[in-house]
Amino acid sequence: MGVGGRTPRREPLVFVWVAQPPGEPPVWVAHCQMSHPSGLPMEHQELYKHPLWYDIAFDVRPVKQECAFMRDRFERLAKRKLASAVELASGPGYHALEFSRMRIRSLAVDLEAAMVEYLREKAERQETLVEVLQGDMRDFTLPYPVDLAYTLFGSFNYLLTNQDILNHFRAVYQNLAPAGIYIVELPHPRRFLRGESVTQDTWTERRGDIEVTTRWDVDRATPDALTQVCEIRSEFEVRTRGKRRVLRTRGRQRVLFAQEIRSLAETQGLFTVREWYGSMDSKIHFDYSKKSWRMVAVLQKL
Ligand SMILES: C[S@@+](CC[C@H](N)C(=O)[O-])C[C@H]1O[C@@H](n2cnc3c(N)ncnc32)[C@H](O)[C@@H]1O
Repeated sequence: MGVGGRTPRREPLVFVWVAQPPGEPPVWVAHCQMSHPSGLPMEHQELYKHPLWYDIAFDVRPVKQECAFMRDRFERLAKRKLASAVELASGPGYHALEFSRMRIRSLAVDLEAAMVEYLREKAERQETLVEVLQGDMRDFTLPYPVDLAYTLFGSFNYLLTNQDILNHFRAVYQNLAPAGIYIVELPHPRRFLRGESVTQDTWTERRGDIEVTTRWDVDRATPDALTQVCEIRSEFEVRTRGKRRVLRTRGRQRVLFAQEIRSLAETQGLFTVREWYGSMDSKIHFDYSKKSWRMVAVLQKL
């Protein structure tokens, strides 16, 4: 079902046995057909309904440094101290939790109820204060305007059409304080511009007795020529105390280039693009150098 469909459908998550060679531990495969309770469909929802597994698999970034980078960009461009920030499509909220530890009022928005619940509980356990709201990044309202908004790790690529992106920019604009900053971190498009890979698509992470091996984009998906949307299939192999499960997920994401971000951000007269970086690091330019592995746009509210 595509974005924009509106058929509410709830089906239980089903784990199915899959035959394995003799001596191998049992394999469970999750099949999940559940739409979001609002009726809006979600991409990669099988994964996002397992927040703990996502949290373990993607806990691979220098979160403190990245938050310091975002604070510094805000303070340099808005010329005031950062007081509040919202993470959009927050997932397990690595950065939202860190901002709260930095004594910045921290909010988070995610569409998936399981993620929202997970982040609320995580914040409570860590005795940090994050206001977590369930909402769609294309249309949301925060309880108060914030200084900084940020969407990380390619979550922006879930905005599949130009209209989704325009709606999203309008929603972000309406929730930002004057001169507010919006930071978008996307994959570097060099794979599509130069045929070069930048990220490692298979890795293993462990927390306690849970080990998660991620195989992202197993087909090396090619974007549709017209829409630039890819169908990305990924697998998560989860091992816990001798038990092995495989979660398979598929979802659509749109490939984006710098000038599209610029024109969609600026066309409504709401934002100007102030800076580009090749990583969440102000020393790394956005170019084809080895260190430039992301595409980070820093937008300012007009
Ligand atoms: C890549 S993950 C989380 C990214 C997280 N910010 C991080 O840095 O790890 C993407 C998240 O986006 C959420 N999501 C997908 N579409 C969304 C939408 N339209 N509005 C809000 N959240 C959305 C998913 O539920 C998921 O938690």
